Amino acid sequence: MRPGPPAYVPPMHADPTPDPAETTVERVALLFALEAEAMPLVERLMLAEQPAVDPCLRQRHFAGTVGTVHVDLLTNGTDPRSGTDRVGTDAATMAAYMAIRKLAPDLLVNAGTCGGFEAQGGHVGDIYLSSGDLLFHDRRIPIDGFLIQAEGRWPATPAPRLAAAIGAKPGIVSTGNSLDFTAAELDFLRREGVSAKDMEATAIAQVCVQCGVPFVAVKAVTDLVDHPEPVQEAFLRNLRMVSALLAERLEAGVRWLGAHPRRIADL
Ligand code: ADE
Repeated sequence: MRPGPPAYVPPMHADPTPDPAETTVERVALLFALEAEAMPLVERLMLAEQPAVDPCLRQRHFAGTVGTVHVDLLTNGTDPRSGTDRVGTDAATMAAYMAIRKLAPDLLVNAGTCGGFEAQGGHVGDIYLSSGDLLFHDRRIPIDGFLIQAEGRWPATPAPRLAAAIGAKPGIVSTGNSLDFTAAELDFLRREGVSAKDMEATAIAQVCVQCGVPFVAVKAVTDLVDHPEPVQEAFLRNLRMVSALLAERLEAGVRWLGAHPRRIADL
């Protein structure tokens, strides 16, 4: 007889509180796609590697305590065929759901790199914290009622004080499953005044809003979308330097969160 599936462990996360704004942030989960983006922060916060959150997936899990706050940090892990880090909305959606169910965060932060926009005053190394609604720029369903599903428009939790602690500018974030872009996508990104183009944030926001978990994205610019240089060249050249900068600023944000108990309404 084949062994059955592992025993089901009930989720730690309770039903969403009626008023998440009153929740105190005691547990924060940070989700990164790429290990290169995450490891500088793991080192700065001296987080310790934990057993995998789910043996089916190849996510890496690190954890530790910073002042009053427990920190869980997940990376997506690698594609088993190529060994490259898993990016995009499917891995992000799964990571968010797993993090919420198994780690019960009071606040979920999606951190990583993004493409910026010269037209929005963006430069390589700028850091944005999500403002307004998060978008999908590569989904098109022009049928009544489906358009909003295609375009996302999931709200980020307002966090101006956390943004100040990080030294982040507010910016609209839009997510798609490609590093480059089509002309139609660029039109959309320009029309919506997007500052940060990434591959995960809106997928994670979608899960967080539906589960009642406060969410912010913190994105650091490695490349400029509205610039003649192909984005992949600038991305590869700047990834390490920008990830180090992101870690320095996120460390300041996490230490601010852990300095004393903070309500979501106070972020
Ligand atoms: N991550 C870093 N740069 C990016 C870009 N140009 N598009 C999507 N995700 C990114």
